[in-house]
Amino acid sequence: MTENMKSIKHDYSRREFIKKNSLLGAGAVLGLSSANTLFAGSAPEASSPAILGGKPVISSPGWPSWPIWKPETDEKRLLEVIRSGVWSRKDVALEFEQRWATLIGAKRCLAVVNGTNALNASVAQLDIGWGDEVLVTPYTFIASVSSIVFNGAIPVFVDVDPETFQMDPEKIEAKITPRTKAIMPVHILGLPCNMERIMAIANKHKLLVVEDACQAWLAEINHKKVGTFGNAGCFSFQNSKNMAIGEGGAIVSDDDEFMDRCYSYHNYGNPYGTAAGTVGAGTVMIGTKLRITEYQAAIGMAQLERLEEQTELRNVNGRYLNSRIQKIDGIIPHRLYENVTKAAYHLFPFRYQKDEFEGLSREKFLQALRAEGVPCSGGYTELNKMPFLKNAFNSRFFQKFYPKEQLNYERYAEENQCPLNEKLCNEQAVWIPQNVLLGSKSDMDMVANAIQKIRENAGQIKKKL
Ligand SMILES: Cc1ncc(COP(=O)(O)O)c(C=O)c1O
Repeated sequence: MTENMKSIKHDYSRREFIKKNSLLGAGAVLGLSSANTLFAGSAPEASSPAILGGKPVISSPGWPSWPIWKPETDEKRLLEVIRSGVWSRKDVALEFEQRWATLIGAKRCLAVVNGTNALNASVAQLDIGWGDEVLVTPYTFIASVSSIVFNGAIPVFVDVDPETFQMDPEKIEAKITPRTKAIMPVHILGLPCNMERIMAIANKHKLLVVEDACQAWLAEINHKKVGTFGNAGCFSFQNSKNMAIGEGGAIVSDDDEFMDRCYSYHNYGNPYGTAAGTVGAGTVMIGTKLRITEYQAAIGMAQLERLEEQTELRNVNGRYLNSRIQKIDGIIPHRLYENVTKAAYHLFPFRYQKDEFEGLSREKFLQALRAEGVPCSGGYTELNKMPFLKNAFNSRFFQKFYPKEQLNYERYAEENQCPLNEKLCNEQAVWIPQNVLLGSKSDMDMVANAIQKIRENAGQIKKKL
């Protein structure tokens, strides 16, 4: 438990939190004026906006910086590994894989170098490639889509449901063609996709499902972890991630044959189980080298000690902050699908409506919010319009493999327009990073107060900034 989390436990037990939180909700139902509830937890900041020289709402945040590393508990295992001289994949990597599989509720886990290659390997070993189309959200990190193109398949973009920030399942079927081989749901920001609906569509059309859970460690739908719904689930343990190793990734699945192939692929194509360092193993496929090291696994084991507790706290704070900001005009909180029992909250998103902020642009709003002490960004730009797609279509391999009419980029771009994603990327989305959600309830109040303060001073900020 971090010092910070200890203090939260001390001054605000979870049970007490839930009790107070539900009372707050009841207050909203009873019609308490927003002025009474908006500044719950701390005094209203009547001063001028920090961006214009006023006092910031948050001067010493209670949330931890990221990643968290505690030498007294975290270094023992790591030092043992380093001093042992066994640095290539062996027992610690195996132990880490078993722990991850158990935590996620999957039969098997393979740790790999990063989330990007967890996706690349999964797509390849599910035999998704040349000639295939894969349905994917445009609202994601580049690695989701590049894993499709990397394997020679064509991404087909399904627009988002802006309320949830996820691929809209109601728009999937219209995009299915005889070439569609798979769906790649991305649980973006750590908020679960509507997997029950997506799996029903995949089953109906006999499509494979590769879940990009690279931002969604321990997120759940009806208590079933994301990453376990489809044929494969992929995770990232990169530095900024809630489960941070620096670099690292994992593939989970219940399909033994698939997992054996992934193992071979990640170890030069040698037969499943061949130990690192073995030569002359009788290579069975063209593979590559994606092995995690023992010291990465040791760092992972240390982080695993905290992940569940941190995830709980992010959920408590995430839901509370959502309940606070929904009372601010011009802020649209994100929505979790009804059956979500836990989110990962890699990022806490909301939508910004500048018309309700006297026309203050999102960029200026973000600048002003950062000045108040709240880390934030506008998130992704439009991935479905980036030049890598046209360049791939023009590449020698694509030209050789695909019929000319399928590589008509203008037509592809037209068919893959995603107007709701466009609005999210260019105008509306605001992200707050996950470590903020490891603060206290009063930190959450201050974040909401900072947003409210900007709203009250929006005209002035717009004029002077
Ligand atoms: C949604 C998503 N997919 C894939 C990846 C790739 O993971 P990695 O950075 O570990 O390669 C990331 C990482 O940021 C991600 O956010």
